Amino acid sequence: NCHWDNSRGSLIVLEGLDRSGKTSQSNSLVSFLKGKGVPVEAWHFPDRSTTVGGMISSYLANKSQLDDRTIHLLFSANRWEKSSLMETKLKSGVTLVVDRYSYSGVAFSAAKGLDIQWCKAPEEGLIAPDLVLYLDIPPEKAAERGGYGSERYEHLDFQQKVASHYTNLHDHTWKVIDACQPAEDIEKQLRELALECISSRRDGKPLSRLWL
Ligand code: TMP
Repeated sequence: NCHWDNSRGSLIVLEGLDRSGKTSQSNSLVSFLKGKGVPVEAWHFPDRSTTVGGMISSYLANKSQLDDRTIHLLFSANRWEKSSLMETKLKSGVTLVVDRYSYSGVAFSAAKGLDIQWCKAPEEGLIAPDLVLYLDIPPEKAAERGGYGSERYEHLDFQQKVASHYTNLHDHTWKVIDACQPAEDIEKQLRELALECISSRRDGKPLSRLWL
């Protein structure tokens, strides 16, 4: 355990298709970092605990209908309503491991046929991640894992479209991890990449904004 003080926290995002293993990998990563003495919190979008999050949750459960642009803007609003807290935490030195972020927002809505630039626009100005860990799995493999629930987007044909849109979003912050490897191997790679990212924050790099 060394000196994590004085540097801001890192914003580390996990992305991937449904059933790519993101949620268990992010939990495992957070426990590991805690064990190393890193101040860290696990976050998840959509954050279903807010009023906006409740609307999103009901839409995903097919309990309400919203047009594609409306739900897109709600997902984005759900990130905006958390962004000042996110900024405060990061500036106070807390690293955030976030399960899904703006890339899910764009990839899922673009998969419905919405224009990509239109999808990106409401995300502009949100805090940019320092590191995006993309758990790469062929949609067919993810579907074979079973346990696709009954939520709105959990269908193979839709996930295939999402996968193709994700590939257009890769930038210099992305690391693509083969999610077909054994879970322990994935864990190990995520730990190394996260630690490397957190220690390089000592260089004082300021927060940057999407999609600059
Ligand atoms: P979850 O299973 O990670 O809670 O996410 C619920 C679904 O919402 C999942 O199919 C991905 C989708 N989603 C969007 O369509 N837009 C977004 O901005 C986010 C964060 C998730």
